[in-house]
Amino acid sequence: MSELAGQILDNLNAAILCLDHKLRIRLINPSAQDLLAISDTRGIDCPLSEYLLNGQEIESVLFDALQTGQPYTQRKAQLTLLNGNRITVDYTVSPMSEGEWPMLTMEIQPIDRLLRIDRDEAVRIHQETTQQMIRGLAHEIKNPLGGIRGAAQLLADELGGKDLDDYTNIIIEETDRLRNLVDRLLGSNTLPNLQETNIHEILERICALVEAESPGLTITRDYDPSIPNLTADKEQLHQGILNIVRNAMQALTDNLVEPEITLVTRTERQFTIGTVRHRLVVRIDVIDNGPGIPEHLREQLFYPMISGRPNGTGLGLSVAHSIISQHHGLIEFESQPGCTVFSLIIPLEQPDE
Ligand SMILES: Nc1ncnc2c1ncn2[C@@H]1O[C@H](COP(=O)(O)OP(=O)(O)OP(=O)(O)O)[C@@H](O)[C@H]1O
Ligand SMILES: [Mg+2]
Repeated sequence: MSELAGQILDNLNAAILCLDHKLRIRLINPSAQDLLAISDTRGIDCPLSEYLLNGQEIESVLFDALQTGQPYTQRKAQLTLLNGNRITVDYTVSPMSEGEWPMLTMEIQPIDRLLRIDRDEAVRIHQETTQQMIRGLAHEIKNPLGGIRGAAQLLADELGGKDLDDYTNIIIEETDRLRNLVDRLLGSNTLPNLQETNIHEILERICALVEAESPGLTITRDYDPSIPNLTADKEQLHQGILNIVRNAMQALTDNLVEPEITLVTRTERQFTIGTVRHRLVVRIDVIDNGPGIPEHLREQLFYPMISGRPNGTGLGLSVAHSIISQHHGLIEFESQPGCTVFSLIIPLEQPDE
């Protein structure tokens, strides 16, 4: 290979590999090394499948391309790396002949971030539509509630002291419960009160609450103390993160031997959310070792009234999602039994409205 071609390959953002007829790596550029977490060049000469936990799946596709001599593109393929990370990629293989054996060039395009942006955008649009519908409905329910409660109160006064109090109390309590629910459905109607906010202060307040509520629970902190202050609405952020930590706590309550929540804070540079690229974002991971999120809830998890708990209202995540969206951030999750991670990503500075 000429020196120039080598330099171009080294500087390409695209991940490129060259595989021989036994699918051994003959050439790998730095982007591909990064993507596949192959940290040294011992990768050269080893079959590609040795660097993937699900190597066999991809191997059969590659052998097919070798045998037929036809290029092949696979979209949204899942690769599981040796470090356990799963990445979603599009890849294209093109057979070529070099000497006596055919070879393959393979071009891999990571698409996780794109998928995430896509999904988040879809959630946001759906969320806005449902939110409007729910708000309309909630107002209609809220208006007569005041009247019903007032009338029940008057009735109670009229009947004062008689056994019938039980009935009026039920009316009053149930209207209060409904009003509470409706208030949560309507969400906050004030604009965020942006101020300098220390994320660790908020997390510590939440820890104190959760530790008081659930004494057997271990909370492990893995904070990056150098994170600068955020510009955010303290109370809302507190509410949003608390909803997520409380979900983790509730997932852990049933007969788990060593229930543990881990809170991780980090910064990330040059992070794109929606269409905006942010210079610096804060990432807060809430990790629990509970049973994981039920498969059938995953797609709709952030929509209002979706709950897997018998007494859940299904509003916690929907509220957290709108708070984080108001802060131009995003929430994502990954879940399997024994490890559920909710990640909140919030830009350090709020863009000017
Ligand atoms: N860390 C977690 N582990 C397992 N399941 C979870 C976790 N977080 C959320 N879930 C599932 O997602 C559902 C929706 O959560 P969400 O907070 O929106 O509503 P909820 O907790 O049911 O009710 P609410 O928060 O309004 O009291 C939960 O009912 C639960 O089934
Ligand atoms: Mg909840």
